[in-house]
Amino acid sequence: MGPFQTNKLAVAVANAGALGILSTSGIVMSNLGVDLGPLAAERGDPYQIVKKWIYRAAEAVEDGVFGINVMVSAEMRDAAKEFIRAAVDAREEDGKIRKKFRAIITSAGDPVPWKDTIKSADLVWLHVVPSVRAAKRCEKAGVDVVIASGHEAGGHTHWEPVHTIVLVPAVVEEVNIPVVAAGGFADGAGLAAALALGAVGIQMGTRFIATQESDFVQMWKNRILKCGERDSIVARGFVGPLRYLKNRASLQLAQITVEKIPNLYIGQPDTTLDPDIFKIEIEGHLALTKDDEEKALFYGGEVAGRIKDIPPVKELVERIVTQAEGIIKSLPEKYLKN
Ligand SMILES: Cc1cc2nc3c(=O)[nH]c(=O)nc-3n(C[C@H](O)[C@H](O)[C@H](O)COP(=O)(O)O)c2cc1C
Repeated sequence: MGPFQTNKLAVAVANAGALGILSTSGIVMSNLGVDLGPLAAERGDPYQIVKKWIYRAAEAVEDGVFGINVMVSAEMRDAAKEFIRAAVDAREEDGKIRKKFRAIITSAGDPVPWKDTIKSADLVWLHVVPSVRAAKRCEKAGVDVVIASGHEAGGHTHWEPVHTIVLVPAVVEEVNIPVVAAGGFADGAGLAAALALGAVGIQMGTRFIATQESDFVQMWKNRILKCGERDSIVARGFVGPLRYLKNRASLQLAQITVEKIPNLYIGQPDTTLDPDIFKIEIEGHLALTKDDEEKALFYGGEVAGRIKDIPPVKELVERIVTQAEGIIKSLPEKYLKN
C-alpha cells in the first residue's frame, strides 16, 4: 500500500502469522518527486531499493513469511520490471531469503506478460482482479492464487461497482485456482463470510493501516477511526479510479472528476491529464506531511466505517482468527437440524 512504505507493517504481519506484503508503489511516487517526508518510500534505483528491503525484512521476520506487491499497469511497467527482477534475484541469491520471502502479488494490469519472469523465481504468485474475466486471464498466465477485490476496497478500484459479496463467489465458481477475498474485511465475521463464499482467506488494506506498527502517518490512522460506512468516495487516481476517505480534498477531486473527465465514471481511461486535477492530487499528498486533515488525500475503503481502534498487528490478527473460529463453530448449533 502506497504512498508510504509498508516495511514495518509487513514484518509485523508476517510475525503475527499472516502474509506480510512490502509495497513498492511508494517508490514510484518518490521517484516522481512527490516528497512525503521521513515516512515516504525511498527515492532512487528501484532494483536496489527493493533488494535492500527484501533482505532487511528477511532479517526482521522471525518464523513467518512475507511477499512483495508490484503494480503492473502501463504507467508502472518500467519500474515493475525492476521490482520483479529484484525479487527474482533476491530469491536466487540466498537460501535464507528463499525460506521467508515467498510471495509476489501483482495488481492493476494484465498478468500474462509477466508469466515467464515470475514463474522462474518459484514464488507463490497472486494477482488482484476485479472480474471473472480477469480471473480467467490469471489462470492462463499460471497465477497460483487469485485475489478477487470488490468495489468497496480502499485505494485503486474499478468503476464497475461489483462488490465483494457478488464478485468472490462468481470468481470461485469460474476458476480452478484458490481465491482470496479482498475489499471490506476488518474482522472475524468478514473472514468467516469469505470462507463461506468459497475463498481460502482474506486480504486487508484499510484495517492494517490503523495498527500500531503501520508505517502510515498518525493523522491517516486517526482519520480512519472518524469514518462511518458512507465516508469513502471514488475519484480519479494515479493509475485509474481510487477510493478515498471523504474529506474536503477528496470531495473536490470527485467533483472535478465529474466536471472534467465524466467518462472516467463509465470506465474510460483519463486521456485529459488535466493540470487542475494533478494539482489537487499532488497537494493532497503533500498535505499528508503537514497534518492538514481536510487538504490531505487519504486512500481508504468503505470498511473504514467499521474500524474503531488502532491495535498491535498480532492482537488484531489473533482477534480476527478467534472471532472467525467462534462464529464458524456456532453456526451448526444455530442453523443446522440435529
Ligand atoms: C492506502 C492504500 C494503498 C493501497 N495501495 C495499493 C498498491 O500499491 N497496490 C495494490 O495492489 N493494492 C493497493 N491497495 C489495495 C489493498 O492492497 C487492498 O487490496 C485493499 O485495501 C482491500 O480493501 P480494504 O481496504 O477494504 O481492506 C491499497 C489500499 C489502500 C487503502
